Amino acid sequence: MPADKIKHVAIIMDGNGRWAKEKHLPRVMGHHAGARAVERVMRAAKDLGIPYISLYAFSTENWKRAQSEVKGLMGLFRYYMRAKLSELCKENCRVRFAGNIAALPQDIAEILHEVEEKTRIYNERNLIICFNYGGRQEILDAVNKIIAQGTKTPVTAEIFRRSLYLPDVPDPDLIIRTSGEMRLSNFWLWQSSYSEYYFTRQYWPDFDKDSLEEAVRNYYERERRYGKA
Ligand code: IPE
Ligand code: IPE
Ligand code: MG
Repeated sequence: MPADKIKHVAIIMDGNGRWAKEKHLPRVMGHHAGARAVERVMRAAKDLGIPYISLYAFSTENWKRAQSEVKGLMGLFRYYMRAKLSELCKENCRVRFAGNIAALPQDIAEILHEVEEKTRIYNERNLIICFNYGGRQEILDAVNKIIAQGTKTPVTAEIFRRSLYLPDVPDPDLIIRTSGEMRLSNFWLWQSSYSEYYFTRQYWPDFDKDSLEEAVRNYYERERRYGKA
């Protein structure tokens, strides 16, 4: 089947640390440059008319990093969410978070709730930020939710989906990973079953409008089959 109009592009933003290392800068500077890349790519996604963008910003495994780096990432997140809220509203962009939000520092969890509340009226564009997100954790959370509901009937894929973090978000059509790594690293495990993948050697801070356009162009050259002949 020729690829339908792209609805959801999911991005594993990787390579901030190596980008900084090559420039003899501290890793956190790589994350700052990565945040600027997010702004660029959101503008490009708007121009391309992509209705859903999801960004893997912090995984459930990223807590294993040095405390100083984790602190730097949290600080950056705090700053950007506060600073960009009005712009996101102006852009008609609904922002939602996927992940274990309750386990985050309380002030960050509060900011996230505020951003979700203030942008929930928008429907033109959607930004999903995967923060303290892990695909296995999401699946386990769904299983436990279903058990807690006391469901007696067999669980179907549709029932299961309804217990995921954001059931109404369409599965990613395209998953982009920067920095040359070719793995999912616990991203969108359930949702990625028929996603197309695009890998680029570019580090995330260098990813720009041209890079996104190239990935999307490449997507449209593919044939999606979903198991059909
Ligand atoms: C991605 O860049 C950002 C996060 C995981 C938060 P990395 O920090 O993983 O950069 P590399 O992979 O070490 O270069
Ligand atoms: C994946 O990148 C997580 C995010 C981009 C937030 P990592 O850099 O943490 O993944 P691994 O450790 O190389 O698999
Ligand atoms: Mg990495």
